[in-house]
Amino acid sequence: MIEQLKNEIKNKLESFYKEKYNTDISIIVEEPKNASLGDISIPMFTVVKALRKPMPQLLAEAVDYLNSLQLPILQINSVQAFINLFVDKSQLSLSILSKCLEDDSHYGDSNIGNGLNVTLDYSSPNIAKTFSIGHLRSTMIGNSLKLILQKCGYKTFAINYLGDWGTQFGKMIVAYKKWGNKEEILKDPINELTQLYVKFHEETEKDPNLENEAREAFRKMELKDPEYLQLWQWIRNESLKESKQIYDLLDVTFDSYNGEAFYNDKMDEVVNELQQKGLLVLDNGAEIVNLGDDMPPALIKRSDGGSLYITRDLAAVFYRKKEYKFDKILYVVGNEQKLHFNQLKRLIQKMGYDFYNQVEHINFGLYLTNGKKASTRKGNVTKLYDILQTAISLAYDLINAKNPNLKNKEEIAKNVGIAAIVFGDLKNYRGLDIEFNIEQSVKFEGQTGPYLQYTGVRIASILKDKTFDISNCDNKLFEKPHYFELVKLISGFKSTIEKASEEYSPSVIAKYLLALAQSFNRFYSLEKINCEDEQIRNTNFALAKCVRIILNEGLRLLGIKYLDEM
Ligand code: ARG
Repeated sequence: MIEQLKNEIKNKLESFYKEKYNTDISIIVEEPKNASLGDISIPMFTVVKALRKPMPQLLAEAVDYLNSLQLPILQINSVQAFINLFVDKSQLSLSILSKCLEDDSHYGDSNIGNGLNVTLDYSSPNIAKTFSIGHLRSTMIGNSLKLILQKCGYKTFAINYLGDWGTQFGKMIVAYKKWGNKEEILKDPINELTQLYVKFHEETEKDPNLENEAREAFRKMELKDPEYLQLWQWIRNESLKESKQIYDLLDVTFDSYNGEAFYNDKMDEVVNELQQKGLLVLDNGAEIVNLGDDMPPALIKRSDGGSLYITRDLAAVFYRKKEYKFDKILYVVGNEQKLHFNQLKRLIQKMGYDFYNQVEHINFGLYLTNGKKASTRKGNVTKLYDILQTAISLAYDLINAKNPNLKNKEEIAKNVGIAAIVFGDLKNYRGLDIEFNIEQSVKFEGQTGPYLQYTGVRIASILKDKTFDISNCDNKLFEKPHYFELVKLISGFKSTIEKASEEYSPSVIAKYLLALAQSFNRFYSLEKINCEDEQIRNTNFALAKCVRIILNEGLRLLGIKYLDEM
């Protein structure tokens, strides 16, 4: 509400100048670094510059005007070129806390989304290949963005665009027919299929003709050969089972699993349209679309007639526009596909549709271990499911050491381990590469998910079986810096969520939650929360309860479970 107050002051002053001088001035309202100067400060240089009047006159005029407004302000001073305001902290704090307690888990709900439709394309692992760390990032970022957008009043539609089509399936089928064994595959599908894939590539070095066989096999699939389609369907099912284990563990859901294969019969239409619009050009037997000097052409059809990744994405985006009527479509995919999505947008634009500017690539960086790309290829396949399990078992050991008599230790360890992985990722700005360290992420202190869960649990245990009455608080306490600092953070939850949604960046919320938890723990070290004095106790409980409400809701928005005990 400090935020709201700042906005109110900004808007009122701007209309004041508009009315009085018919001038548009953008007023800056900030919080001075030095709190002894005031809680809110307005630098007046811009006003002087715009109106060309003496500073003292403008200062006096603005102070008079602000005094005439009914604001929760105790005092207004002008110092040099600034107007400094001292907020009525008691009044303001009480209204902030009351609102938070009343709204509970709906605190921070926003309607900036205004019911607009956002389609999200995330996770999208490649069938018959290992679920990579990149796909895990896409899953966690996409899931959190979905929850954040919903909180901001958007309607969402979540799609897992499975990589279940393409030449790699031709390779798979050739390899399976030559060297595969059904029983072995059923025992450990992804591993066996990955081995077959690796073997295919080894053998190709000796016999390059295998590549042709694979292309031919994929062609057969595209022409709906029943035997090949059945094999493909079987591989798809078996390997999707493995991805679903990960989704269950993370509690991630989708509204659709329509992957690339779904668009097999929907490509002709777009390709025809490209043709009719005169965009398709023959190039060495292949069909391409030139996209301009700043990017390479899009390869739409290979010389053997086989379809391509971008052709399927183009068919998909038109289908989605028609079916889901999106106002925005987000593709949560790694940095390495930047060109692909630029090409996709340009294709839509070249076809004459404006909605190309509703297409957004929500990019993210790599995971690094000791500065190197964490690879899931070839020999060093670290199964993601195993990484998650490792985090869970580390969490179990910590919980067991701390609280051996806890009930439901397994379930709690599961949620703590997952919190470690998810938060360890989402606290970083998504576009950057991140150095990842499981041991560090599972710790209950530092910048971790378990630290946030632990702070929440601490509050839950303080408040357990207690009641309090917010109308009987010691309001003067809010004048104290460690109280007011917390109130300010509490008041900033909504604008934090809105910022995260505008920037498509869960890290904004993650960082805010860390600041909130740190501020609460500082408070906790200074105050005995459950103290003798009833009014002080009520104030402390109200504050603690608000922090708990926000931690719970904030963690939920990141896709992390909050806990009552750990
Ligand atoms: N399956 C792709 C990959 O793993 C990601 C798909 C992203 N979504 C899309 N519509 N292209 O690289």
